[in-house]
Parts: sequence; C-alpha cells; structure tokens
Amino acid sequence: MSQRVTVNLGIPEAPREVTVVIPDDEPIPWQLGDHFAIVGAETPRVDGPAKATGAARYTYDIALPGMLYGAIVRSPYPRAHVKNVDLTRAMRIPGVRAALTITDGEIRFAGQEVAAVAAISSDIAADALARIKVDYEPLPFVVEMDAASADGAPSVFSGSNVGKPQISNHGDVERALAAAQYRIEATYTTPVQTHVSLETHGAVAHFDGGALTVWCSTQGVFTVRDDLAVLFNLPPDKVRVITDYLGGGFGSKFGASPEIVIAARLAKESGAPVKLMLPRGDEHLATGNRPNAEQKVRFGADASGKLVAIDLVQRGSGGIGAGSGSAGPFKMVYPCPNVRTEERNVYTNAGPSSPMRAPGWPQGAFALEMAMDEMARKLKLDRLEFRRRNNSNPVRAIELELGARAFGWPEKSAAPKSSGPIRRGIGVACAAWHAVGASGPEALAIAYRDGRVEIRCGTQDIGTGTRTALAIVAAEELGLPIAQISAEIGDTRYPFSLPSGGSMSSPSNTPAIRQAAAHLKAKLFKIAAPALGAEPSDLEARDGAIRVRFDPARRVAFKDVCRRIPGDSISAGGERIPNYAAYRPDQAGCQFAEVEVDTETGVARVLRVVAVHDAGTMIDPLTSRSQINGGVLMGIGYALFETRRMDPQIGLMVNPTMDDYKLVGPLDVPQIDVMFLNVFNGGTNTGVLGIGEVAHVASAAAVACAVSDAIGAPIRALPMTPDRILAALEHA
Ligand code: MOS
Repeated sequence: MSQRVTVNLGIPEAPREVTVVIPDDEPIPWQLGDHFAIVGAETPRVDGPAKATGAARYTYDIALPGMLYGAIVRSPYPRAHVKNVDLTRAMRIPGVRAALTITDGEIRFAGQEVAAVAAISSDIAADALARIKVDYEPLPFVVEMDAASADGAPSVFSGSNVGKPQISNHGDVERALAAAQYRIEATYTTPVQTHVSLETHGAVAHFDGGALTVWCSTQGVFTVRDDLAVLFNLPPDKVRVITDYLGGGFGSKFGASPEIVIAARLAKESGAPVKLMLPRGDEHLATGNRPNAEQKVRFGADASGKLVAIDLVQRGSGGIGAGSGSAGPFKMVYPCPNVRTEERNVYTNAGPSSPMRAPGWPQGAFALEMAMDEMARKLKLDRLEFRRRNNSNPVRAIELELGARAFGWPEKSAAPKSSGPIRRGIGVACAAWHAVGASGPEALAIAYRDGRVEIRCGTQDIGTGTRTALAIVAAEELGLPIAQISAEIGDTRYPFSLPSGGSMSSPSNTPAIRQAAAHLKAKLFKIAAPALGAEPSDLEARDGAIRVRFDPARRVAFKDVCRRIPGDSISAGGERIPNYAAYRPDQAGCQFAEVEVDTETGVARVLRVVAVHDAGTMIDPLTSRSQINGGVLMGIGYALFETRRMDPQIGLMVNPTMDDYKLVGPLDVPQIDVMFLNVFNGGTNTGVLGIGEVAHVASAAAVACAVSDAIGAPIRALPMTPDRILAALEHA
C-alpha cells in the first residue's frame, strides 16, 4: 500500500509544496518546519577518538598469524614486449613462498604489473623482486598528447590514438556565435593530477577452507567481492570483503584493482595470508589519475550580458584509460540556448586514468570560469554580476549573495590591487552536482535489551564521515543520543550497499537507515503501548524516551522499553526506495577566492576562500565543513602546484614521490569560511545530498580567476607555477 503526502520542500525564501506517493512504511520526507534533535547540529565524528588514538584499524594495520608480504615487479619501460619472466632465482631465496608472472605479453605503460612475490618479510620480498629476471623488448612509445595525436605516432592499442569524439549539441552554436555582439575565444590546459590518497592501495587476502577474506582499501566492498568471486570462481557468499577504515580514495579505489587480485592470487598460491600495500611511487604510476585536458572555448554574449553561445572542443589523455571528458560544467552551470561540446580521448603510454573527485569537472570549471571572466571583461561587467545574470538557479542566487557579502566582493573589487611588489586578486566560480543518490542499499537496525542500538549497512566510510551521518539519522529517528548508537559498516556480511562514489553515500544510505530505524521504532512502540495505555500510533520517540504524542508526561525510558524485548534483541530492516519527487535534481555552490601574487618571485598564495554550498538537508555541518575544506585544499593544489611530469624521451614519470609531486602543505592553507544553505530537498526520506565532489568543482577555478585578476591578464594553463606567473606578468 502506498500513501500520498504533500511536503513543504526547499528553502524558506523559495519553498515549494511537493506531493509524493510513497510506500506506507516509508517515513515522511524531512521538510521545512521540522524540528530536529540532532540533525543539523554540529556532531563530532563518532569515530574521531578511534582515529585520533590509533585504535581505528586500516588495511595497513591488519596483521594475521603466518602472514606473508607481497610485492610487485613493474615494467621500467613505457612500452615493451615481455619475452620471458624467470622466477626461479627469486624462488630460491629462503623465505620466499610464492612468485607469479602477471603479464607475459605487451607492456603499455611504465609501472605496469609484470610479476609478484610473497615472502615472510617485506625485506625478503624486496630482495626477491630484484632477482626476478624479465626479458623486455622495448618498443616505440608516446607519452604526450600532441605527439600521440600526430600521424605515424606509435599506437598505444592499435590504430589511431585519438578516440572518436563525443558530441553534444543543442541549438545552433555557429549561428548564435556569428550573431553575437560579443565573442571570446581561448584555449585552456590542465595537467594530469594523481590522487595521492594518504593510505596507498592494497589488501590483506586470506584463503581459508575454500573461502576468501580480503581486507582492502576500497570504496566498494561489494564491488570487490563480486569481482573476486568471478575471478576465483567462488560463489559471492564465499568471498568476504572488509574495509573498516580507509585513508582516502577520491575515485581511485573502485573494484578489484590489480594489487588486490595479486594479493589474493599470492595467498592462494602460498596457502598463507598475504599483505600487499603499494609503495608511494606505485600510487602515482599505476592506480589512477585525473586526465589532462586541452579545452578550446568560444563564447558569444549579447548586449544584456547573457550568454548566447557556448562551444567547447576538448581533448584529454588518461594514458591507457579513457574518461577525459570535461564538458559537464559547460552544460550544467550557466544556462545557454546554444551549447555544443566535443570531447575526445587521446591514448598515451602512461598509467590508466580513473575517476577522480568530480571526474572532468574541475578541469571543465577552470576553463568555463576563466572564459566567463574574459567575457565579463569584454562586456565591461563586474565578473560577479555577469554570473548573476547568467544564473537561473534560485539556490545559487542566494548563495552568490551570501558569499559576496561574507567575502566583501564589492569592497575588494574597489580596493587598489597592489602595494609594492605584491598584487591582490579576487575570483568567483560556481559549482554544480547531482548527488541525489540511488536505490539499492539496505540497512538493519537492532535494539538490544540493554538499550543499545546498532545499525548495520555494508557501505564504507572513505574518510567522509559516513559512520557519523548514518548514526545521526538513526539517533534522530529513535530520539536517542548519538552515543547510544553504534554504526557498523564496511563489511560484505552487512546488508548490501553501493560503492562510495559520485557523492552518493549519504543520499543513498541515510534513507535506508532512516527506514530501518523507523521500522524498529514501530516494533518498540508495540512493546511500549500497553504500559502507556496508548495505541502504538499515538507514540513518539524523543529525548531518550517513548511517550504519548499529545501527553508527553506519559513516557517510558527507551532503555526500559528495551528491557521488555523478548530474547536478546529486536531488529528491523530498511531499504532505500527509488528517488521520488524532489525540490531539485541538482545542487549548487559557489566559491570566492582572494590571492596575492609576488610579482618578483611569481609565487601565488591564497589568502582566503569563502565557500557557499547546498548539501540538501544538513545532517552535520561539522563533518560537511571538513568535506568542503578538503575540496578547497585539493583545488588549491590543482590550481597552483600539482602536475604529473613525464619525460618524453624515456617515457617515465619524473616526480613520483611526495617530495617532487607538489601537494598543498600546512603553510598553503588559507582562511576558509564555509557557509551552507539548508535545502530540504525531498526525493528521499532524508533529502540529503552528497557534497564530496561539489566541494571541489569550483575551487581551482576560483583561485585561477583570482590569480589572473591579480596579474591583470589571464593565465590559461594550470598549475599556475611561478615560471608561468612571471611569464604572464612579462606579457602583461
Ligand atoms: Mo568519486 S570520483 O565518484 O570517488
């Protein structure tokens, strides 16, 4: 049976009544005017103490009796034919328990897996690696996008290295451009960025009586389980994957990647548990990256300051991987009647790309927002005003006003740019995303006789605070303090959930948790009702008690209700039903940046960032703010420092270390002010939207616009290193 309910969604400034048809047992979506006990309050992470004390167990911390240590031989050549792999000398070393050939065919990038060993210590494993003899026949290669696109370039696979264009077209861009009063045209480039998860990729694998257990650093325990079940020909229930804690993934940790499979193969071969965590250098070479991009942008605008045409011709290289497209922001951020985008992958002999925090979007947003600035200057319009005129999202409209006020945009725009050799600049950029989540996850809520509540869901916390968000939702529904809830996640023995990607974890899992908690509550109401002389339907759970809604003095403590549970516990399941009618299908954000540029050294420094975002129903501003801080910092690194450098002569990455691959450090951290707009979005019973990716979309763009503003000329290439800044200053 279903129910039809009308809920008041959105924001107080622009509310909307939305009628939804939902199953009878689905909680009514949280809406404007609801009063919350814990949702929306600043709740510290439930696992903060475990992380701070070192009690939290990451894959790196797993140690099993008799465990071996695995290591991987990687190709030193960007392209080669493997003629022979000789493992015999390695196997003769005492303490080596298994050795495997991984590839005996074609090598397509330097860093590709060739062979692997397992030994009783990591030192012995390293010795064994050195004794594996591989005969390579080096072949011609190409690691740069231009060279790979040229006629006669060595083929990375077969035929042309330039993929088929992906074209999207609405309206008539050429006509609109020809008719436009104002036009700009520019080409923007961005580098390859690597994920640099603080916890490297890896696994501990253990075969025991025909069952495989794997602890691994993954964003998707069920995906890894299913991949391994196929590869090892096991039924899925004979594969258990556990990720209790994970130190960052950012999109690089989906599925059974090579090191996980190799750990399991070595465990099978040796008959002992095997731990295989990658060294830092391998992370840069082989576990994924954000492809580079070259984006040719043409804009047309009319005299009223409205965009009339957007044209993007993009190509990018994810090495042997695809997915370099960057058109998303061009199609979604500023509405325009004529938009054409063309995206192309170029294959090179470099490590495979993988999704990375809003795949395609930071690079697209950089080009889009730089072009917005260039057009605003042509129109002689304030750059913020130009964005206002081209925005149609009421949520973003408010965000832009809030942000401009907090940042002091008008004052800073009017202030003088330079004092001595230091010049200041400001920038603003917009973000969009669509993290409404999906059905699939299930959850279990269990109340024990001692009053504890446990929720179980097989999602994983990739560092974003998932445990905390789930516990908050259960605590709210059950009217309990969060300390009474324990959130058990990261195990394929728990109810099914989806991979943590696409900012989907909170919007996909919290509704299942809430439904499970509501079902559990209904069972507890039945137990409590006779003692309260009331009907179960007259009860509510609040402040640690179950009480009569219209007579709150008639109450019984939650713990006392639990004492009446027959047996030891009582449990209820919940499922994440498909999305239903919502306030919006997307979310908005904007970020303002202020920088200073030293015109003598070319060093740019970010002074302040104001980030304004919408996360749907706000569950926990504390954890959400951490997400935004992380997105901003990653964006500063992308704007100013990070780049994977390949030597075109030898085909190798020359900076695969933490020293040479420049990340943001503590001294680069500016003042970051985060503001949220609480948007009751509906669509699910919680209306929560994910923010991991939208947090990062506009960050580099805002910084890039600010640096260009300081210099007085656009810098059209990231990262904005001192040499580029000095060259731009000279040019200006
Ligand atoms: Mo993300 S790039 O979907 O982890």
